[in-house]
Amino acid sequence: MNSMGDVLYLSRTDIEKLDINMMDIIRVVEEAFLEKAKGRVEVPPKPGIHPQKDAFIHAMPAYLSQMKSAGVKWVSGFPENPKRGLPYISGLLILNDVDTGFPICVMDCTWVTAKRTGAATAVAAKYLAKEDSRILGILGCGTQGRSNLEALSIVYRGLEEIRAYDVSKENLQRYVREVKAKYGLQVVPASSPKKAVENCDIVVTAGPILKHPAPVIEATWFKDGGFACSLDFDSYWKPEAMYSMNKFCTDDVEQLEYYRTQGYFAAIPNVYADLSEIVSRKKMGRENPEERIMSMNLGLAIEDMATAKLVFERAKKKGIGTNLPL
Ligand SMILES: NC(=O)c1ccc[n+]([C@@H]2O[C@H](COP(=O)([O-])OP(=O)(O)OC[C@H]3O[C@@H](n4cnc5c(N)ncnc54)[C@H](O)[C@@H]3O)[C@@H](O)[C@H]2O)c1
Repeated sequence: MNSMGDVLYLSRTDIEKLDINMMDIIRVVEEAFLEKAKGRVEVPPKPGIHPQKDAFIHAMPAYLSQMKSAGVKWVSGFPENPKRGLPYISGLLILNDVDTGFPICVMDCTWVTAKRTGAATAVAAKYLAKEDSRILGILGCGTQGRSNLEALSIVYRGLEEIRAYDVSKENLQRYVREVKAKYGLQVVPASSPKKAVENCDIVVTAGPILKHPAPVIEATWFKDGGFACSLDFDSYWKPEAMYSMNKFCTDDVEQLEYYRTQGYFAAIPNVYADLSEIVSRKKMGRENPEERIMSMNLGLAIEDMATAKLVFERAKKKGIGTNLPL
């Protein structure tokens, strides 16, 4: 810990300077799910407040005893922000010392949120997608569209083609240019959501989360043997598409159930397993190449605290950040 009373402040720029690679984030996020399977984490469902329509500010506390990581993320998602030239997601994350409870670090949470969500998709895909997955559909080519591709391209070295869809032509074109340059993959701009789902081995939806969704993805669009990861709740997937899955998973059952009590997820199938059961092999992941599998990843605070701990330790080692008095 820092000298008593000091808090290390890490801005987004500080965190980017640490140059932490996605492989390490995937590793700690998977470890966090294993710790959850062993009953060694505390992660209550995230409560939220909603100052604007379809906007949220969530409180996300978690404690991972073996990783000695404890803290809370206070994260906002405001759908009107891009119109104001501001990012959709903003927020802070606080880490506490697990022996004294003292706050030891305050950091911008946007980098952690982007990276850990992509990492969680990659962890899910590792167990639930086909090993020979080649075509990835991305709906919503923003921060998540980028970090999910980054993480999936590590777990799926055989990826050849990305089919990308975005409601904003400008965002889509920028994404296509960037991804081609960065990964050298074939990137097809899709003219409709259907074209970004059909024939894809893996589909990630990352559009806006809507409390009263008007979903468009039909069961027939999704290929047998495909894996879908939804990051935008049930906003994109029609109930019959979700019911057509052989296995419907989630990152945390308790959190999904909590959201149902808040009026979300009016029509979803029974959960087959959560990701901690899948990575610990208490429940089987993919069992054959025909299975249709979805993981409804709501985002879990253990992913944040596992990643934030990595960030904090790397920052201390490199002497990056600003010490502030409490
Ligand atoms: N489940 C999780 O763990 C988790 C974590 C972070 C973000 N999210 C969610 O992921 C979504 C994307 O977040 P982000 O940070 O990438 O936002 P972003 O603002 O960076 O990107 C969103 C992109 O989606 C596009 N878009 C808007 N409506 C669309 C639609 N109907 N279809 C296709 N594209 C559409 C926008 O033009 C933009 O390019 C949000 O709903 C956010 O709440 C989920």
